[in-house]
Amino acid sequence: MKLLEDMILQKGKIINEDVLKVDNFINHQVDSKLMKEIGVEFSNYFKKDKITKIFTIESSGIAPAVMTSYELNVPMVILKKQTSAILNDDIYQVNYKSFTKNTTYNLTISKDYISQDDSILIIDDFLANGEAAKASIKLIENVGAKVVGIGIVIEKTFQPGRKILDELGYNVYSLARIKSLKNNKIEFIN
Ligand code: G4P
Repeated sequence: MKLLEDMILQKGKIINEDVLKVDNFINHQVDSKLMKEIGVEFSNYFKKDKITKIFTIESSGIAPAVMTSYELNVPMVILKKQTSAILNDDIYQVNYKSFTKNTTYNLTISKDYISQDDSILIIDDFLANGEAAKASIKLIENVGAKVVGIGIVIEKTFQPGRKILDELGYNVYSLARIKSLKNNKIEFIN
């Protein structure tokens, strides 16, 4: 997506060879016009898939997910990241570890917002190691619902997430695919 790639080149900050800071328009301050275009792009790509719900993980996935949910006219559900396990019959939980943040989370959803009849599109801001995506998939499939696709705003192709999800057979659509952050330069795959 050209608009997104241009913004990444203009405003993104390389922190090191592995991490790109996009606080100016995605992770902290949010560019709503960009988010609208992202929603249109994901909606055009996934509209044939009979999606019933959009799922995202708090917090930076919420903006692109809500715009996609608006375009597809289906609800958006936020998977909460709890730092401790909760024993409660009203929720489902799956544990995962974020390598980037070196923290373990319990991805949590109320049983009210998922059923086995759902066909779900997962949207997130970054795909790095794929742990968050894998945990979301597990949460959804444990219930018997279906993951119809995964929409990613920024994929770092040099980290393992994309390959893992491809090998598991999921339809992953990323709007910007970063091949390298080496030598203080952002390089995309086209
Ligand atoms: P994974 O989800 O692909 O497994 O990656 P990992 O666990 O390693 O990292 C997940 C968290 O780190 C996510 O934030 C993700 O947005 C963030 N992240 C990963 N790579 C980058 C990067 O290059 N730049 C930035 N800015 N963030 C990155 P989170 O824990 O879900 O937090 P939030 O920002 O959504 O609240």
